[in-house]
Amino acid sequence: MRSTQLPDGRAMPVMGLGTWKMGENRDRTTEEVRVVQRALDLGITMLDTAEIYANGGSERVVGEAIRGRRDRVFLVTKVAPSNASRRGTIRACEGSLSRLGTDVIDLYLLHWIGGTPVAETIEAFETLKSEGKIRAWGVSNFDTDDMEAMPEGAMCCANQVLYNAQTRGIEFSLLPWCEAHGIPIMAYTPLGQSGRVLKNDTIAAVARRHGATPAQVALAWTIRHPGVVTIPKTATLARVEENLGAAALSLTDDDLREIDKAFPPPRTKRGLEMI
Ligand SMILES: NC(=O)c1ccc[n+]([C@@H]2O[C@H](COP(=O)([O-])OP(=O)(O)OC[C@H]3O[C@@H](n4cnc5c(N)ncnc54)[C@H](OP(=O)(O)O)[C@@H]3O)[C@@H](O)[C@H]2O)c1
Repeated sequence: MRSTQLPDGRAMPVMGLGTWKMGENRDRTTEEVRVVQRALDLGITMLDTAEIYANGGSERVVGEAIRGRRDRVFLVTKVAPSNASRRGTIRACEGSLSRLGTDVIDLYLLHWIGGTPVAETIEAFETLKSEGKIRAWGVSNFDTDDMEAMPEGAMCCANQVLYNAQTRGIEFSLLPWCEAHGIPIMAYTPLGQSGRVLKNDTIAAVARRHGATPAQVALAWTIRHPGVVTIPKTATLARVEENLGAAALSLTDDDLREIDKAFPPPRTKRGLEMI
């Protein structure tokens, strides 16, 4: 698996597995754990979760799946804005560590900006780092001005934002800003939650040319930039391998031009979209 470099020099795989909506239904837990373990077996070692997903249920699924193989996993989870005060962040992190069954998180993100000053959350992140409870921290749903407003010298290691062919507003200023500062973008909802992107005729035509599937094209498109990683979610066993196939798919300049026609790049700055 190709990787990109975090600002602290460590490597981050270009593809991970999203886990939103896992852990919501106990009847599906066994299958969800199998899906996460299949991803690990195939070499998808980055797992993305959050304390708010299924009220901790997603972190529990991930925790169960990584038991006995924590060392091979790049674990990403997020603190909710409502918990992001100095003390709240520390408490939230301890809750996540317990549900995940580990003593360290590789990358801990602020899920989105809430009422707490970002500088206060960053202080808590630095405390957690010095205590060895997280290895790095980052943000999510931060627009360009939010990135610029971060304290001087802040060691932000990633910004996780909505990015797929249909939603490419970040290309106007946020993506160039992050690239210039060496901060990886984590593309969330890269399949557009299997909506309009996967049903698009151009995406289907490009896929046919490569003997690939629309999902593989959609994912390969998100990681065509060296500083972007992608975290598709699937709870379907067969789709894990399919989605992984995107990591080996190189789109040509012609492919990219056709996709630009179907989904034009932004020509003005728009506010960051999020879901
Ligand atoms: N930071 C944030 O605010 C934020 C917000 C949203 C998401 N995220 C993270 O990003 C991850 C991915 O985003 P997402 O879950 O919103 O959407 P997504 O990954 O774009 O799409 C997931 C949907 O696509 C389906 N799917 C997966 N592989 C497929 C394939 N090969 N062909 C057809 N359909 C396929 C899945 O169905 P099955 O599961 O049934 O296979 C699921 O319904 C989340 O799970 C979460 O970890 C972060």
